[in-house]
Amino acid sequence: MQNEAVCPIPQRISLNHHIYRTGNVPDSLRHLILDISRAAKYIHYAIRNTEAGLAGTRNQFGEEQEKLDVLSDDIIRQHLCESRVVASYVSEEQSEAVELDPTAPYTVVFDPLDGSSLVDVNFAIGSIFGIYKGMHVIGSTPGDQVAALYVLYGPRTLLVYSVGNSVHEFILNEVGEFILLREFLGVADIAKNYSPGNLRAVNVNAGYRSLMDVWMKEEMTLRYSGCMVADVHHILSKGQGIFTNIGGGKYPLGKLRLVIECGPFAYLMEQAGGAASDGTQSILKKKIDSLDQRSPLIIGSKTEVKRVCKMLK
Ligand code: AHG
Ligand code: MN
Ligand code: MN
Repeated sequence: MQNEAVCPIPQRISLNHHIYRTGNVPDSLRHLILDISRAAKYIHYAIRNTEAGLAGTRNQFGEEQEKLDVLSDDIIRQHLCESRVVASYVSEEQSEAVELDPTAPYTVVFDPLDGSSLVDVNFAIGSIFGIYKGMHVIGSTPGDQVAALYVLYGPRTLLVYSVGNSVHEFILNEVGEFILLREFLGVADIAKNYSPGNLRAVNVNAGYRSLMDVWMKEEMTLRYSGCMVADVHHILSKGQGIFTNIGGGKYPLGKLRLVIECGPFAYLMEQAGGAASDGTQSILKKKIDSLDQRSPLIIGSKTEVKRVCKMLK
């Protein structure tokens, strides 16, 4: 045990300090989260200094890759390699799981840059991470994650993490340190804001169309940016709200990926007291059958998640 008289609680709580003071997690997990946060600082820099534009390649989902998608994926790979605690990783930009060291304790799943097509319009974008024990995620559920975090690159760069003891928010300061902004973020049961994704689904899903009528009649406030990290962060930051991405039209199962997008946010939302469902079951209980599996997502304030699930049945 460290000498607390010599090492008092600092005035500015760093991410490192916060994880070891409140996280009660193995050092290996703390180091991994810090290595991911270092990668995020390079992505933060790359967003400001790399020209926007297509890379000329496509990812496993057939989507055109932005230069920044490829660069962010590479930055994260380098930091995961350096951490020495990663058995394998799953990235939106790689068609298969990438094995690093089968004897290492963790697997990291991530979306290196979420909302990357919004770079040129200068909207907020983000990176999403989930951490599992072991080296395979197939057959497990997002509820098996031992940590999840995201980084939001907007007017400010924020990092929000959970290791299973609520959700905490940090801000990147001028010397490149993530400093505690708010602890124990909570999400109330009642939503006042709504964020409806894949709205094209209203053409085939009458329940989704009626839901829009209900939300408009109730004069709820629309907040939708097209970047899931920003839109779900809005809920965690304001302490209420609902975000949906429902199947239909171009995306029969919704646009979002269970492993790299829905799973980490479901973990964070439930840690904050909210809920995340695919319409019939909790995202945290949904079995991962393949790495590219899509899932509908209804996430946010509990009472609203329940109402949406009922209306879409
Ligand atoms: P990505 O940039 O990683 O492909 O993900 C973008 C996702 C998500 O952030 C957002 O909620 C959704 O795409 C937006 O889809 P629409 O453009 O259909 O609204
Ligand atoms: Mn994404
Ligand atoms: Mn992406």
